[in-house]
Amino acid sequence: MTKQKTKKKQSKTIKKITTIKEEAPPHPSPPSHPSPLSPPPPPPKKVIVPSINELCVTFLKKKPSHKLIDLELIKKYHKMCRQKLQKYSDEELNEIREKIGKINIDDKKQQILFNIFSNQDRVINENYHKVKLNVKEIKPNKNKLHKCLSSYTFIKELGQGAFGKTYLVEKNKKEYAIKEITTKNFFMSKKEMIHKNKKEIQIAIKMGKLNIGPKIYDSYMCNDKGELKMFLVMDHMTEGSLLKWMESNTLTSDHKQQILKKLKKMHSLNYYHVDTHLENIFVTKNKNKIEFYIGDFGQSYAGLDDIKNMLSNNDMNMLQNSLRYNMNQKYNEIISKLFIAWKLV
Ligand SMILES: Nc1ncnc2c1ncn2[C@@H]1O[C@H](COP(=O)(O)OP(=O)(O)OP(=O)(O)O)[C@@H](O)[C@H]1O
Ligand SMILES: [Mg+2]
Repeated sequence: MTKQKTKKKQSKTIKKITTIKEEAPPHPSPPSHPSPLSPPPPPPKKVIVPSINELCVTFLKKKPSHKLIDLELIKKYHKMCRQKLQKYSDEELNEIREKIGKINIDDKKQQILFNIFSNQDRVINENYHKVKLNVKEIKPNKNKLHKCLSSYTFIKELGQGAFGKTYLVEKNKKEYAIKEITTKNFFMSKKEMIHKNKKEIQIAIKMGKLNIGPKIYDSYMCNDKGELKMFLVMDHMTEGSLLKWMESNTLTSDHKQQILKKLKKMHSLNYYHVDTHLENIFVTKNKNKIEFYIGDFGQSYAGLDDIKNMLSNNDMNMLQNSLRYNMNQKYNEIISKLFIAWKLV
């Protein structure tokens, strides 16, 4: 997206925020100083808001027969509820808060709802660093247990991390490791995840060519039961992670220098790993010689443009997200409690 487009988008968002504010009825103005001649101010009006039950019926009337587990439905109900709540003044909202405060609310459920609501209010970052990489899509093989391993034969699972699994596979009598990366994430859109994974693959390919990371042979996408996954075929690191290897081996200063040399080479090219813990350094035996490789580029940055892009997006998004968060928090607390009181979740 061009800078101009992003700017337009931002000003749209800010406009939206102002409109929502304007839609709410004006706050009662503070009483002005009474002049000696003017009549005494009327006593403050008692705010009358409907009972919680009535609120639930008006806000969330289309109550489904089953509990809400579908994220999209939860978001739909949230929107419905917020549109109604925006019509209340701050005084009325306080009254609702007081009423709902008397109900017993499951804290855990409320926290989950809170996270969902806050996340959907998030400004989606579409100002990506460009990744020029086409990842082909292959068809899943219905007859196999591991449907997306292409022409490779599954041997065993090698490990699991935050975003997927790694398998040991075989093809034409050679062993490979295949890393499966999901595009499903609670806090990121599918588009953002595809972009993130493509960046990981592109960096892994480059690092493989430079002998910093395991050599990459192939990458592809595959739709596994409705979940789009991305796959990276690489050299099998026979001894696994450095963490595992150090359980029964000693890391000498020479070994350490080998690892640091690779990291320094990465940095000299403006590539930064950003997640260099012991499970992301791999060990392999090559003709009986121990070798160390940097792996898992899931958090890495590729070049100065990518770093600048990340930092500037961070500034923009943090401001916009904080504004939205602050705006919506006043409703989200009430909505999450109403959801629970109305047994929607
Ligand atoms: N090429 C490989 N050879 C052998 N084992 C591997 C290889 N790649 C990954 N593994 C094993 O799988 C584990 C998880 O892999 P990796 O760290 O790449 O993914 P991850 O932690 O899921 O990634 P992320 O942090 O992006 O979620 C590693 O710690 C390691 O044990
Ligand atoms: Mg890892």
